Amino acid sequence: MLVKKLKERFEELDGKEIMLQGWVRTNRNSKKLGFIELNDGTTFSNVQIVYLDDLDNYKEVSKITLGSAIEVKGIVKVTPEGKQPFEIQASSIDVLGASDHDYPLQKKRHSFEYMREIPHVRPRANTYYAMFRLRSVLSMAIHRFFQDRGFVYVHTPEITGNDAEGAGEVFTVTTRCDGKYEEDFFQKHAQLTVSGQLHVEPFALTYRNVYTFGPTFRAENSNTTRHASEFWMIEPEMAFADLSDDMDVIEDMIKYCIRYVLENASEEMAFFEKMIDHDCITRVKKVADSKFERMSYTEAIEHLKAAKDQFENQDIFWGMDLQSEHERYLCEQVVKGPVFLTDYPKEIKAFYMRLNDDGKTVAACDLLVPYVGELVGGSQREERYDLLVSRMQEMGMELEGLQWYLDLRRFGGCKHSGFGLGFDRMLMYLSGVQNIRDVQPYPRTPRNLIF
Ligand code: 4AD
Ligand code: MG
Repeated sequence: MLVKKLKERFEELDGKEIMLQGWVRTNRNSKKLGFIELNDGTTFSNVQIVYLDDLDNYKEVSKITLGSAIEVKGIVKVTPEGKQPFEIQASSIDVLGASDHDYPLQKKRHSFEYMREIPHVRPRANTYYAMFRLRSVLSMAIHRFFQDRGFVYVHTPEITGNDAEGAGEVFTVTTRCDGKYEEDFFQKHAQLTVSGQLHVEPFALTYRNVYTFGPTFRAENSNTTRHASEFWMIEPEMAFADLSDDMDVIEDMIKYCIRYVLENASEEMAFFEKMIDHDCITRVKKVADSKFERMSYTEAIEHLKAAKDQFENQDIFWGMDLQSEHERYLCEQVVKGPVFLTDYPKEIKAFYMRLNDDGKTVAACDLLVPYVGELVGGSQREERYDLLVSRMQEMGMELEGLQWYLDLRRFGGCKHSGFGLGFDRMLMYLSGVQNIRDVQPYPRTPRNLIF
């Protein structure tokens, strides 16, 4: 029986025999009596197994090591006065797979750094166990949100010929066939995608509302707690939507996700609140009930100038790219909650963003949130062919490889907008976990490729 089901039905099963399979989280015992905390992966909490020395193999059972896989037959006993509402009184315990003595998890708390060295075992430690289920639940929240609103899920390619963000920080694809490196497999330069946006835009001009949700890759050589070389991104794209509509969807999506995980990953969120971030539930609930503020980049620069003594980088001027200390100041000190910064100088943003009437700024937004900084980046896209071409030329871009993208402006192009939500950063935001390496199952960062 699965522990999840048992937890739902333990009262009616009182006195009945059941069988469980799972892994040993703790095993403590005296000469006559022992307790195993068993986890079978179906629910956050463990089940307590009580065993007595009347088991044939009591001695063997009392030595079962942490991490071992076991099968237990026993009687369900409701324990209203106990710490847990029920326990299992074992009639037999068999070891299905023992865990050797060099098992790397022990009862004590290990450091995050140590855990990153053992990604094959760390999901069994509580923080990661909670995190990777939260990851799964949040993925479903994202799909639910968009599917309920009629958005079409588009699978954009991982291998591409374009650097969508134009930042040049890409992983290139080399090919080996029959043991030999093949120089010209695609007969053009191929790389891993940094964003699905350019590939999803044609679908927005077909289905109106679409999204892509998959891994993206960036060769940013910055070792921060918020950047990974491989991360997941959700990128919706909406035809006939302007920047304000875009921000409305971002805000609705984030609030929906918060409510969804509080309901569907309640034990995991309670764990994070207890062990990682002492007000994470209150904090995210407050966000779900608040109105996100909107502030122009120009206004933000004024706030930063007024507070410049607080920053390491005190050279604050209109046109600068904000650094994370500036972004955090704005959401943590000025607004004290999520804030959209809008209308950035065109020079510090991507080529596809729509030029505003002032000729200096673009219709872009970044959502900044406390603890994490930039969580979402979005914009209204430049739908005017000539303006897009001249912007690309100004930036010294080659038009040829992106003629297909330009053509969309000639084949029924219209106002459209979209954004990218950093999925891993959203997990950091929800849980209070401070390093992106601890929200990804197999983190990839510079000089770090374990397994
Ligand atoms: O702001 P970015 O670069 O925007 C785009 O890629 C657009 N094409 C999105 C769009 O409009 N469709 O990235 C979007 C988000 C960031 O706000 C951040 O949350 C996350 O992706 N992100 C990263 N997350 C982890 N590691 C990295 N190296 C990241 N780079 C960006
Ligand atoms: Mg960005």
